[in-house]
Amino acid sequence: MLILGIETSCDETAAAVVSDKKEILSNVIYSQIDEHRVYNGVVPEVAARAHLEKIEVIVDNALSDAGVGLNDIDAIAGTCGPGLIGGLIVGATFAKSMAMALQLPFIAVNHIAAHALSIRLVEEIQFPYLLLLVSGGHCIFCCVRSFSEYEILGQTVDDSAGEAFDKVSKLLGFGYPGGPQIEKFARLGDPKRFLLPRPLCHGNSYDFSFSGLKTAVLLASKDCVDEQDKFDLCASFQQAVTDVFVYKARKYLQHCDVSAYSALVMAGGVAANRYIRSALESVCCDYRLKFCAPPLSLCTDNGAMIAWLGVEKLKTSQADSLYFRPNPRWRLV
Ligand code: KG4
Ligand code: ZN
Repeated sequence: MLILGIETSCDETAAAVVSDKKEILSNVIYSQIDEHRVYNGVVPEVAARAHLEKIEVIVDNALSDAGVGLNDIDAIAGTCGPGLIGGLIVGATFAKSMAMALQLPFIAVNHIAAHALSIRLVEEIQFPYLLLLVSGGHCIFCCVRSFSEYEILGQTVDDSAGEAFDKVSKLLGFGYPGGPQIEKFARLGDPKRFLLPRPLCHGNSYDFSFSGLKTAVLLASKDCVDEQDKFDLCASFQQAVTDVFVYKARKYLQHCDVSAYSALVMAGGVAANRYIRSALESVCCDYRLKFCAPPLSLCTDNGAMIAWLGVEKLKTSQADSLYFRPNPRWRLV
């Protein structure tokens, strides 16, 4: 079975062909970074127009890279939320139109669920598993029981960590997108140089808060006079975020029955951060729990994870109606 997955929820126009045997036949991504860089962040209307301009050629490329034609596809999966409404309408309408014209099942995909299950496309990870899902818009610690069952342990009460990476990068003048920039410059800095808060790292709550940390970085940035100061601030900020995730993971693993879970998985754009990945890996090592995260190319937004959630949904349930409406606030639970 071959599924075409289409992703347009934020600033990547992406399409991929994936089989139910976990083969990624193609995974084409057009990143709108250049369109948004001048504004130092994603502008929704610019994103929607760019999706509209690119979607046809990206889907064509996904099919040709995979070496398949329209008649070889068995179902079409499209992101229907959460995300920016303009992009969602473009991608979902394109996916539904293809499904209607080709008389194929249409699967409405929740973008966060697609990140959550992306690991199963590349590794044999059984349910239930623990998941730390950290992207530009979301920061959720949960237990994944199936593609549609999530037990939320904690989530951010304000900004997501990805958003904090982006804002810190912007205020230090390192531009957009922030995560990869901060990670790069943090390698050149001293993580102990600036004393920054580790928000909500007390008690038993698994919720997160990153907005105060961002403000603390803003205040600390006033003392930056040269590039080295900025590198030190990047390293100190990345260390603070890492310490928060390590604290929450350790706290949970101390109190839970670790044998109930197959792994601790990190997913979403921030999971591309090697420093955070390796810190969490060593926590898991202490508790003899497998740690895994998708390869970097599957951490940030892509069509393959959308197609894969399509596979998981089709295995257990019906396809969705062509009347399914894109929902910019579609919640995981
Ligand atoms: O999952 P994603 O591609 O899009 C959303 O669904 O939001 O995540 C994008 C976020 C951005 O905030 C970006 O700065 C962050 O992931 N990110 C990173 C890294 N690469 C991307 N954050 C930290 N370190 C990275 N290497
Ligand atoms: Zn995402």
